[in-house]
Amino acid sequence: MRLVADQVVVRYPRTDRDVLAGASLTVDAGESVAVLGPSGSGKSTMLSVLGGLVRPAVGAAYVDAAPPAPRLRDVTSWVLQTTNALPERSALDNVALAALTRGVSRPAAHAEARERLAQVGLAARADDPARVLSGGELQRVVIARALAGGRPFVLADEPTGQLDHATSMVVLDALLEGAAGASGTGVVVVTHDPEVAARCTRTVRIEDGKVLAS
Ligand SMILES: Nc1ncnc2c1ncn2[C@@H]1O[C@H](COP(=O)(O)OP(=O)(O)O)[C@@H](O)[C@H]1O
Ligand SMILES: [Mg+2]
Repeated sequence: MRLVADQVVVRYPRTDRDVLAGASLTVDAGESVAVLGPSGSGKSTMLSVLGGLVRPAVGAAYVDAAPPAPRLRDVTSWVLQTTNALPERSALDNVALAALTRGVSRPAAHAEARERLAQVGLAARADDPARVLSGGELQRVVIARALAGGRPFVLADEPTGQLDHATSMVVLDALLEGAAGASGTGVVVVTHDPEVAARCTRTVRIEDGKVLAS
């Protein structure tokens, strides 16, 4: 399975400016792609295109898979810069929610949540309420939740943007190792941190509306 953005141009409503200028990016299952580029260059927009949340005005975005190919939004889950865990619920509950919404039974969802928390190094914090966790720990809970959604790709938009460098590396490693442990989940991560990017299997840059290999 592969996410494809092919020669994409995006026009947001009520703007007369194009964002991205025929930008192309493909992401395969099992790979991790770091997306770099100046602020406002269209990194988040490209992620939204790959997640099926923004439809390109020109070009195409789709899942390349054996027919019937699923929709982009059904194969992608999100990790955002601001952590959005439920503060009063335990780390375990926060993660289990993702599996529960998939229709998994409660015991199975909790078992999977424990496994995903272990993959991000938080097995010991499973029963703590989210509000007592640090920023880096919370972001790892959100990563575990994204992985527990069972979707083949995780789109992470500056997931370490609020964290110091050392914590960023712990969180990024949790994301990459968790993805590898979750049967080869593909990862796209927008980052400004070159060392975070270096941990990924591939790095691209968005510049002048195009995606460049780097
Ligand atoms: N919902 C929106 N409506 C209008 N313009 C937008 C919207 N989202 C982003 N943009 C514009 O698109 C350009 C690219 O934004 P974005 O993809 O967020 O860049 P980056 O993530 O690289 O900082 C910016 O000029 C931004 O103002
Ligand atoms: Mg952005």
